[in-house]
Amino acid sequence: MEKELYPEVTLDLVRVTEAAALMSSIYLGFGNKEKVDGAAVDAMRGMLDYIDIKGTVIIGEGEKDEAPMLYHGEKVGNWNDNSYEMDIAVDPIDGTRLVAYGLPNAISVMVAAEKGKILSLPTFYSSKLVVGPELKGKLDINSPIKENIKVAAAVLGVPISEITVVILNRDRHKNIIDDVRSIGARIKLIGDGDIAGAIATCMPDSGVNIYIGIGGSPEAILAAGALKTLDGEIQVKIWPRDEDEKLKALGEGWDLNKVYFTDDLVGGKHVIFAATGVTEGDFLSGVKFLKGKAITESISMRSSSATIRKISTVHNLDTKTIRIKSLDGDEKFVNLNKSDEKQKLLNLKLF
Ligand code: FBP
Repeated sequence: MEKELYPEVTLDLVRVTEAAALMSSIYLGFGNKEKVDGAAVDAMRGMLDYIDIKGTVIIGEGEKDEAPMLYHGEKVGNWNDNSYEMDIAVDPIDGTRLVAYGLPNAISVMVAAEKGKILSLPTFYSSKLVVGPELKGKLDINSPIKENIKVAAAVLGVPISEITVVILNRDRHKNIIDDVRSIGARIKLIGDGDIAGAIATCMPDSGVNIYIGIGGSPEAILAAGALKTLDGEIQVKIWPRDEDEKLKALGEGWDLNKVYFTDDLVGGKHVIFAATGVTEGDFLSGVKFLKGKAITESISMRSSSATIRKISTVHNLDTKTIRIKSLDGDEKFVNLNKSDEKQKLLNLKLF
């Protein structure tokens, strides 16, 4: 019998995204993206050490804003002699701006897969097309969006006016938005957070059929980690943002015309996805603080068994501590109910 790979760490990953969501949520609405990201990153790093793996971060986050990151190549997990090697992709917060301004749909996300099975794309952005199981294999990222919508309507057996497309609200998507409108399909414009936007295509009650547009490459990989279990499909093409990035990618042998599918981005049989809501969202509820308790909602997916768990957790803030660890290795345990500790984190003076 094949030895099961890492069967015991599925729920451990949820503890990591929960901690990142809890710590970052204390900065809800403070208008400071870096604080939100930093709190999530340090909580992830601190909690990852508890997991019984030899983990290597393949997809970290933060280059865009020079935010604090879990960097490519960083070793995480307890590295016990008998632990398995795993590759890790993290997005401590997808939607840092959303948390900074108290807006909906920010999540904390991570994916773990067998060693060597997570692809790191060379460009900051990628062009993406995502669909759920019913449209898998039916659409083509190289076809015009109008054509894809016609196919989707035919396959689903609904009028075009009932097809809903999720698109990041960016100037670069003006032509796509105009095309979708001109054919009479519906649009859900999102401000940020295209991992949740992509996953929505696989959620029958989301009312969303297609995600399309140019967004972060790390976010494409993390979405692929969920699509493995959800049986959806992501198609990705690398999208250089300037000539330098293009020349660098070409110099490294990347093909700008190649279409990468879900399994090219995150391969192997054993893929674990975990996410926790930070702000209230369509996909997951946000962190709520209720008189000494915090409530989080998370989802965990395990591709080998196709098990999907929704987990609602009550954290008793009197007793709960979160281990946080900075990039330079400083670590401490934080209790969110001790107001002096919280004030210190917030850099506020006690009065
Ligand atoms: P961050 O939380 O890292 O800021 O990412 C939010 C996000 O909206 C992603 O979901 C998306 O892929 C990317 O930013 C799009 O980038 P940009 O904001 O530069 O268009």
